[in-house]
Amino acid sequence: MDFELKTLDAAAAAAEKCDVLVVVVPEGQSHGQDAVSHLVATALESGHFEAKPGKLLQAWRAEGVAAARVVLAGAGDGSGRRVMAAVQAAVATVRGTPARRLVVLLPATAGDDAVRAAVCAAADASYVYVATKSKPEGRALRKVVVGVWDAAARRAAFDRARATAAGVELAREMANLPPNVATPTRLGEEAKKLAKAHGFGCQVMGQKELERLGMGSFLGVARGSAQPPRFIVLRHDGGPKGEAPVVLVGKGITFDTGGISLKPGPEMDEMKFDMSGAASVLGAFRALGEARPKVNVVGLIAACENMPDGHAYKPGDVLTSMSGQTIEVLNTDAEGRLILCDALTYAERFKPRAVIDIATLTGACVIALGAVRSGLFASDDALAASLQAAGEAALDPCWRMPLDDEYAEGLKTNFADVANVAGRAAGAVTAAKFLHRFAQAYPWAHLDIAGTAWKGGAAKGATGRPVGLLVEYLMAGTSAAASPAAPAPRRRARPAAA
Ligand code: BES
Ligand code: MN
Ligand code: ZN
Repeated sequence: MDFELKTLDAAAAAAEKCDVLVVVVPEGQSHGQDAVSHLVATALESGHFEAKPGKLLQAWRAEGVAAARVVLAGAGDGSGRRVMAAVQAAVATVRGTPARRLVVLLPATAGDDAVRAAVCAAADASYVYVATKSKPEGRALRKVVVGVWDAAARRAAFDRARATAAGVELAREMANLPPNVATPTRLGEEAKKLAKAHGFGCQVMGQKELERLGMGSFLGVARGSAQPPRFIVLRHDGGPKGEAPVVLVGKGITFDTGGISLKPGPEMDEMKFDMSGAASVLGAFRALGEARPKVNVVGLIAACENMPDGHAYKPGDVLTSMSGQTIEVLNTDAEGRLILCDALTYAERFKPRAVIDIATLTGACVIALGAVRSGLFASDDALAASLQAAGEAALDPCWRMPLDDEYAEGLKTNFADVANVAGRAAGAVTAAKFLHRFAQAYPWAHLDIAGTAWKGGAAKGATGRPVGLLVEYLMAGTSAAASPAAPAPRRRARPAAA
């Protein structure tokens, strides 16, 4: 989708030729004399519309307004979170209509966070999955114009939001693809395609290379599948040569049956989302490709299926990881940590500034935090704080969880250096403690996105999280982030409702 940032006040917005004009209305704003301001003011006065969060009012062919359809969307205190919800709700009302061109008029007080929220919400709410439909009816929306009081001041935030939205969309699309399409091989091809489009370094390794690297843990998981595994390395070398990179590591289980420790049948299809960590790495790179920040970033993806088969690994097997540590498999459904541990060891060669793995790792994390916040585990307080702050800023929040050594007690076994599962208690933490053993050589963080990367129910599908968080973290402090903060709302009289 095509986004454009434009300087617009309410009077100019009234004259904008478009199918839909979305007017984001925070509480307590003053109103000018133009047609849009008049519409907002009279709607508020009548009691048919309130500027409260979640309130919408639509008008068709409103007098003096060029847009065919006007949607007023209440935005409460006007915060990024409220603008996000308002734009999402407003854009959702035009899904399935022929609307092609949409203008979002933000309040005059809108800062960078509101611009970001508007772009991401419009992209998000208009996304339609069509890849495997025989009669695709895709998104009609072609163009979204974001109208702000001073476009020049918001340019940097807008550019970054647009890049982020493209990354989120790629992550969603990849994770939504069925598991017979989004195979490890396909993930490798997508990485190569991205690399070609944006000039990234890219290496895609297969069985032979993984054997040579000694990735016995990863290969143990892959063994039961007819689909060959892939280990993907992407590089964005935007920063100074030799500057330590951030390494992102994505769990790319393209389908998780549980293996010999087979999962129950109902809803097993949802385990196609088990490559959402990998999808978020691809998405983050898509955003890096668009925004081109001056940072060095490496993306690693371990991709395979977890299948039961005559060749499959089984409970009791002992695997030798790339680190040399031996692992007793007590449950083949705890496979994510087994592919990630080898990727974490591989990450050492980049002498990274930080390593962040992203994984739909545990059902226990869904129980702990639900779909609101991703689980954050970190061996380094500064890294944890940066990621937490990035999550808040990007409206893609996470919550820090503990890593006390006592949580690793249950991973002890008589038959190897470590077992791949502990008891049921604190399952998200014990999984993180397992990974922690393999991440001793650098500041490390782990994001458990089992609850946040996808939604079940009627709106079943991938969310594209935590691409927003990752992009914000990677770009914080880079030049594209250096735009001044939102100016305090100016007090002089001007046409309002804009
Ligand atoms: N991919 C699952 C985790 C998962 C569960 C993601 C639900 C999204 C929704 C992971 O591989 C898994 O099966 N974990 C097990 C670990 C257990 C065997 C210790 C789990 O959470 O049940
Ligand atoms: Mn599993
Ligand atoms: Zn899994």
